[in-house]
Parts: sequence; structure tokens; C-alpha cells
Amino acid sequence: MAPAQTTATPLATRSLERPPKLKGGLPLIGHTMAFVKDTIGLLQKTYDECGRVGRFKLFGKDMILFTGPEAHEALFRQPDEVLSPNAAYKMMVPVFGEGVAYGAEPAKMAEQMHMLYPALRNNRMRTYTEIVARETQETIADWGDEGEIEAGEFFGMLTNYTSSSCLLGREFRNEMNEEFSKVYYDLERGIVAWGYIHPYLPIPAFRRRDRARARLGDMVAEIVEKRKRSGYHGEDFLQTLMDAEYSDGSKLSDHEISGMLVAAMFAGHHTSSVTTAWTLIELLQHPRFLGEVRNEIRARYADAEDYSFESLRDLEKTEGAVKEALRIHPPLFILLRAALEDCEILGYQVKKGDWVAVSPMVAHRDPDVFENPLEFDPDRYGPRREEDKRPFAYIAFGGGRHKCMGNAFAILQIKTIMAVLLNRYDFELAGDPVETDFQGLVLGPKPPIRIRYRRRGATDARLSA
Ligand code: HEM
Repeated sequence: MAPAQTTATPLATRSLERPPKLKGGLPLIGHTMAFVKDTIGLLQKTYDECGRVGRFKLFGKDMILFTGPEAHEALFRQPDEVLSPNAAYKMMVPVFGEGVAYGAEPAKMAEQMHMLYPALRNNRMRTYTEIVARETQETIADWGDEGEIEAGEFFGMLTNYTSSSCLLGREFRNEMNEEFSKVYYDLERGIVAWGYIHPYLPIPAFRRRDRARARLGDMVAEIVEKRKRSGYHGEDFLQTLMDAEYSDGSKLSDHEISGMLVAAMFAGHHTSSVTTAWTLIELLQHPRFLGEVRNEIRARYADAEDYSFESLRDLEKTEGAVKEALRIHPPLFILLRAALEDCEILGYQVKKGDWVAVSPMVAHRDPDVFENPLEFDPDRYGPRREEDKRPFAYIAFGGGRHKCMGNAFAILQIKTIMAVLLNRYDFELAGDPVETDFQGLVLGPKPPIRIRYRRRGATDARLSA
């Protein structure tokens, strides 16, 4: 539930101090080059040199980084009218569509987000669990006794199937997947740094993006129409949005429905895919935790593969591994807001026009909050330690009123995939050590990520033959 809005502080901020400034940087462009070359390095340096509130110059504006639980809370609790995600994520507006999510007024966006809740309730989670388990089983049906996958591609494809089934519905999954993949690809390729300068510049990537967005709108309208005629009632996000109403009783337009679906796909697909890959990679690099997770899964499913919502929810070791993969490798490594008015945060002056940010990556490496933060240690979430329980410390899913709405769905989906895979197969890393790929807005493991698989029991059978 979103916390109550704190009152904005549009006081006479002129007498306040500006946050400490990071040393170095060039005249006019400041730290832009360093940010583009090594974003995480620059964010970490800002924290190391300036402390919980630090400032550097980026593309001619001041960027203020808040680090540490109290600082995160101070930022997340500011009202949208003061620190705006919509203004910060403007480049997403042509992708989702005008009037949808970040392209809508804050109050309207809040209503639209609220409409997603019925799709994320436990009764729906049961349906999604079945879908994710089935899609995973079908995807590995032809694996045979042993072989190799490129994990980036494999998990990208698998979560595309699971997300399109759960979010978009069976028509997209069965009839339109190929075309949808193409449209989605063009939308994704339309998110480039030029968008920060102007989201509608006349460049080829934006023209393709706009064509794809228009086509997607038509595809959704077709399916909505077909569903209405057939009387079929789905258990997916599409149906939830078709049934939803604004507080004045009006329904979402087809344009709004398609925009909300794209927003959910963008928020949930790539983030889940890279986290699934990291969870498996980290486990393969940490045999003790891999053993614990595998034992937990096989104790439950070795004899009967009934991946029920309830049984999956009880997989504590597996959940710890997913959370830890997310802590060390948060796919969204920087969360942004744009200051729409002067205000005071933690005693410092934030000026209208500043960028304001928290970085889950920097936050999760803070030794004052997480013990030995660079170590993969899922036990940190267990009894007595519970390092994620301190408010606003663990921020892989953000915090406050814009906290991720799909967090429970994401964790459940990744646990389900892990359970199906580790119940049937043993895995090992086959290539070079895996590094982070710092290209793009969502950070993931750098391909190629070669992983070998062997059917459970096949190793023992071979040795005894
Ligand atoms: C591992 C997977 C995921 C991660 C790491 C993740 C992370 C995040 C983060 C950090 C935010 C906050 C952004 C900000 O404050 O600027 C967010 C927001 C959001 N996420 Fe997720 N997410 C994941 C999966 C999903 C899924 C599966 C869905 C939908 C089914 C989803 C839907 C959303 C939505 C709708 C918002 C915007 C909420 C708002 O602004 O009110 N996410 N996510």
C-alpha cells in the first residue's frame, strides 16, 4: 500500500545549502562523460565521496543521488507534484502512449495503476503459476538427456512466453506471438538516449517505434473486439483492463489498454528474464546454496510435479536465492525523479529542474546495511538476520507509492521456473566467468552465458554403467 503523502516543502529554500558536489568534472558538461562510460562507478564514487546526499552535473543539469535507507525514504515519500517520475521517464511516453502511465497526469496514472491490482491477487497468481510451469515444461520438452543453452537467449524467450500468456492473454500467445515479438522489438529499440533530449526527434528508431506502437494498438483492439463478440472471459491482465473503470465510471479506451499492457510487459519481461538468469548463474557459482535449493525443490517435486501456488510459496531457500540475485544484480540500477519545484530534502536544497535519483546498485553494496555486501549470501534473509526488513534498505523493487506492483508475481514466476528446471536437470557453467552487461537501461548478465544441462539421475546412471 502506498504511504501517505508527506507535505511538500516549497519553502524559501534559497537559504538552504546545496548537496555536496562531486569533485572533478569538466566545465559545462560536468560528469556526463564519466556517467556514460561507467554509470555505476560514478554513482558509487558520488556516495563514497559525498555521503548519503551527493550531486554531480549531467547533460547540463544537476543530478542529486540519495543513498541509505533514510535518504531513500525521504525521496520516495515526496509527492509526485514535487518529485515527478512522469517528467523523469518522459522518453517512455511514446512507447506506452500519450495519456497512459507516465504520459498521464499523476492522479490519472494512479487510477490506471490501481486497475492492475485485481490481476495481481492470489487467485490470479494460482493461474499464472500453472501457466509458467506449463510453459517451462513445454520449452524444455525436447532437451533430451544433456545439452547446452545460451542462458540470456533461453530465459529471454521463456519469459516472453510466460509474460505474453499471463499479461496479454492466450490470443497473443497462440496467434500473434511472432508479430507481437517484432512489434515489441521495435518498441524496445526505440528507447535510446536521444529520447532524453526529445522523445519525438525525427530519427529512424523513433519512426519504427511509432509505427510499432500504432500497430500494437490495432492488434489489441482486434483482440478486445473478438473477445467481446465471443463472450470469452480471460484470467489475464488484458481482461482485467477490459473490465476496469475510472472513478467516474468510464472505461479504458483501446489505446489505453494497449499502453497499459505494453507498460506491464516493459516493466516485467526483461527484468524477470535477467533475474532468472542471474539466480541460476549465482547458484551455479555457489555450490552450498545450490545444494540447499536443489534439495528443497526435489524434496517437494521429485515424485510429483504439481507446481501449485501454495507449494511454491513455501520454497524459502529458493526465494532467498532469487532475492539475493536481485540484491546483487538489481536490473533497474537507477530510479529517477525530476524536481518540478524547489524543495528541501534532508536539510538540503533541491531546485526545480534538478534530477533526483536513488540507485539500488549502490544501496545494496552499503556495508552499513548489508553484511559483506559483495558476497552472495541468501541466508541474510533468514531468521535472526532479516537484512531486508529494515524499511527502504532493500530497494530492488523501489519503494513508496511507485514501488513495483509486480514484485510478488516476478518472484513467484522465477521460483516456478527454477523449480521446474532444477527438479529435472543438473546444470553447470560451461563458458568464461559471467560479467554484467552495462549496455541498456535494464542490466543483465553479458552474453554468451553458456550453461550445460544433464537430466537428473543421468550422471549417476552413466557412472554406474
Ligand atoms: C524482477 C522483476 C522486476 C523488477 C526488478 C522490478 C523493479 C521495479 C522498480 C525498481 C520499480 C520502481 C520504479 C521507480 O520507482 O522509478 C518498478 C515499478 C513498477 N513495476 Fe516492476 N519490477 C519487476 C517486475 C515487474 C512485473 C512482472 C510487473 C508487472 C506484472 C511490474 C510492474 C511494475 C509497475 C506497473 C511499476 C510502476 C508502479 C508505479 O509507478 O506506480 N514489475 N518495478
